[in-house]
Amino acid sequence: MSPGELLQFLRDRRSVRHFEARALPPACIEKLLEAATWAPSAHNRQPWRFVVVQAASTKERLAREMGARLRQDLQADGLPDELIEADVQRSYGRITSAPLLILLCMSLSDMDVYTDDQRNSHEATMALQSAAMAGQNLLLMAAGLGLGACWICAPLFCQDLVASVLDLPADWRPQGMITLGYPAQNRQRSREPWEAKTLWR
Ligand SMILES: Cc1cc2nc3c(=O)[nH]c(=O)nc-3n(C[C@H](O)[C@H](O)[C@H](O)COP(=O)(O)O)c2cc1C
Repeated sequence: MSPGELLQFLRDRRSVRHFEARALPPACIEKLLEAATWAPSAHNRQPWRFVVVQAASTKERLAREMGARLRQDLQADGLPDELIEADVQRSYGRITSAPLLILLCMSLSDMDVYTDDQRNSHEATMALQSAAMAGQNLLLMAAGLGLGACWICAPLFCQDLVASVLDLPADWRPQGMITLGYPAQNRQRSREPWEAKTLWR
């Protein structure tokens, strides 16, 4: 792939939120996970962890329990009931209608441990940055396979709940959920020019 083709590929990748119902072949899922694994990571410690969720019953339970937490949070914010229910329904639909979910988690178990909180906090940030890169690789491979995918941040807001529903190891911290499937929508998106975000020194 030439640099120009790579740039065009990056420009063409979109977050896709509506999917056909058909399931993804296992070989596709394995390619997504392998691509994620080739991300760079701090000290090459590979702090990413993945949970593949395909069973309708598991998606349904996750969506229902996450929805209940979302409702609680929005009620505490004092939002009107109809807005809350619309948001909860949208979240439920996004999770249950995706043929595949891959929950991206992070583990600090292989990261360095320091004697002070500040460096430990930086180490945790590096693990998070590394896990996010795995997520980006996964999104790019999805685009390469002709799949639609979208990163959903909601698990970050209810990490304990998601860990409990999916019975995760104690050190796996949910960071985001990637919904995947064959795309049932076409989307356009723009970007501010890089010149607006760049300083030269
Ligand atoms: C960390 C992160 C969190 C995101 N959370 C959500 C989300 O909760 N729901 C959603 O629909 N899209 C979510 N997105 C997707 C963004 O909305 C999307 O990337 C952005 O609008 C740009 O569109 P594009 O990906 O098609 O270029 C998230 C993306 C990132 C990187």
